[in-house]
Amino acid sequence: MILSIESSCDDSSIAITDIETNELIYHKKISQELQHSVYGGVVPELAARLHVEALPKILQECEEYFSKLKAIAVTTAPGLSVTLMEGVTMAKALAISLNLPLISVNHLKGHIYSLFIQKDEVLPMTILLVSGGHTQIIRANGLNDMEVIATTMDDSFGESFDKVAKMLGLGYPGGPVVQEYGLKGDENRFDFPVPLRQSPNIEFSYSGLKNAVRMQILKLEESENGITQQDKYDICASFQKTAVTHIMQKLKKYFKVNPPKNFAIVGGASANIYLRKEIDDICAKYDAKLYLSELKYCADNAAMIGRVAVEQYKLNDFSDIENIDIQTRVKKL
Ligand code: KG4
Ligand code: ZN
Repeated sequence: MILSIESSCDDSSIAITDIETNELIYHKKISQELQHSVYGGVVPELAARLHVEALPKILQECEEYFSKLKAIAVTTAPGLSVTLMEGVTMAKALAISLNLPLISVNHLKGHIYSLFIQKDEVLPMTILLVSGGHTQIIRANGLNDMEVIATTMDDSFGESFDKVAKMLGLGYPGGPVVQEYGLKGDENRFDFPVPLRQSPNIEFSYSGLKNAVRMQILKLEESENGITQQDKYDICASFQKTAVTHIMQKLKKYFKVNPPKNFAIVGGASANIYLRKEIDDICAKYDAKLYLSELKYCADNAAMIGRVAVEQYKLNDFSDIENIDIQTRVKKL
């Protein structure tokens, strides 16, 4: 078995995965959403402090498996340096005290392998990764053969939901609440500009849309009646439609030239039902088989890190305990 640790942002999570069967033996996650909600986003130092409390609590429940462990895996990049450090410190201590090898896992590969938790790997595949930190189209041929085809020039898809929620005073994370509000709103009331509509390039940008929403909110706040609850619903619906339309316009361009046989959406924001519906339609049109992670594995978790670690273990891909590196950003997968 492999014990895996995830602490790249605001979720403290540990999993134990069976190397031969991919079975998830144990999995627990303690989220910090409530604690960050008052600030409208993740506060790194607070997140690190909460990991220090949560990770040892979860680890206690895993002690019965210690004698069966063959390796310790941990997310080392990308993420917040102070929170990654907490997971890495625990992983190093465990690896040294239990005399086990250490596996350093890329969080983005983790999101991709969330598709294969308790399952066999299905590659090659084209993947849309939409999370709080990333918006990417990735071509994955194998664990160590992945290419980022398109990425965002500024904010990510999930982050734009977080920022809109913050502007409307709806707390953090923004994705679920903006989606919820959108269900009660008129998506055609506000005509927000679809980013990079005229550009032939396949790339993403969300800062312009975020600013357009900000201007609209200011206008409503300064109006005679102030901003109403219905205005908020309509803002969320119109914003969500535009944010998803941007992704779909770029994906259509990509599908036209490179129709994939297997396609997947992963990452916390892949839980978005509006996006899932549109992706469903494009996959049906191009006869691509659509893969989705189970909803409980879309957001950050250690089960997906453990699933990658199983593949790395089979390739003897271990890290030097003394020189294990954390990275806040990664250029390549
Ligand atoms: O993958 P994840 O848990 O963390 C990162 O690696 O960033 O993704 C979290 C992000 C947050 O920005 C959150 O607002 C967004 O995913 N998210 C959503 C939805 N559920 C979560 N965005 C849009 N619609 C949702 N339903
Ligand atoms: Zn993530």
